Amino acid sequence: QSVKVFSPATVANVACGFDVIGLALDAPGDEMELRISHTPGVKITAIEGAKLPLEAAQNVAGVALMAMLQEYGQPDLGIEVSIKKNIQPGSGIGSSAASAAGAVVGANKLLNDHFSPEALVRFAMEGERLASGTPHADNVAPAIIGGFTLVRSYQPLDIVRLHTPDDLWVTVIHPQIEVKTSDAREILKQKVLLKDAIRQWGNVGALVAGLYQEDYNLISRSLEDVIVEPIRSILIPAFHDLKIRCKEAGALGGGISGSGPSVFMLSKGESNARSVADMMEKIYAPLGVDYKIYVSRI
Ligand code: HSE
Repeated sequence: QSVKVFSPATVANVACGFDVIGLALDAPGDEMELRISHTPGVKITAIEGAKLPLEAAQNVAGVALMAMLQEYGQPDLGIEVSIKKNIQPGSGIGSSAASAAGAVVGANKLLNDHFSPEALVRFAMEGERLASGTPHADNVAPAIIGGFTLVRSYQPLDIVRLHTPDDLWVTVIHPQIEVKTSDAREILKQKVLLKDAIRQWGNVGALVAGLYQEDYNLISRSLEDVIVEPIRSILIPAFHDLKIRCKEAGALGGGISGSGPSVFMLSKGESNARSVADMMEKIYAPLGVDYKIYVSRI
């Protein structure tokens, strides 16, 4: 018996929501196939599309599955997984999260939905711990639950699924340079000024309100990050140009996707999202940096 899983790319942080707010795209996504095996433990049989370790303990999908099997408590059980990576590692659109999340979602199907979505998030976070040094959940939660999610608390883990306005779209540009999440976390300051914290939590609350009220104007005003973006944006070519000109092209606003180098913009409606994609292309084409652009409904 085997199951196939499509596990989507995700945008983490969503501007003001560092480590707490994320959203799932329709595509791209990793494709995975899992089956029960008679050899105990986790075996990764193949990885296509990226050079990643096959050894389970060194692979994000492997460690997520190992955490799951440990809690399942049947030492004889084995799971085999093959992975087709359609999301490039280091892209900022949740590559490690997609594999870790897809693995536990698929395995849970094989175990007749034994675990809750929140438990799956907890297992998939082990993949993030391996990839970035910190078990953040703002990519794995939307990959597993869909739409927008909020991590209200890490200890204890408390994940909230948020409302997604009907006509909200995301455009993502992925410059083909690699930024490691662990590096992009190391450059962050560990202390925040109270005045910045006040501005940030005002924005987070208003963004959530904007999503529920389907108030695109409020969403637009809330897409601001005064804490992380000023530091990380130096790693991304033409970041400020993208922010300003994509808004002129119809975006509500946006920011760095995850830890970069991808940049996301939210828009009301597909036609705005596509105009934003055109603008991104216009800005990037002369730079001589290869890039990919994705347009997706949320
Ligand atoms: N919240 C994480 C970070 C996401 O920004 O470091 C990484 O994709």
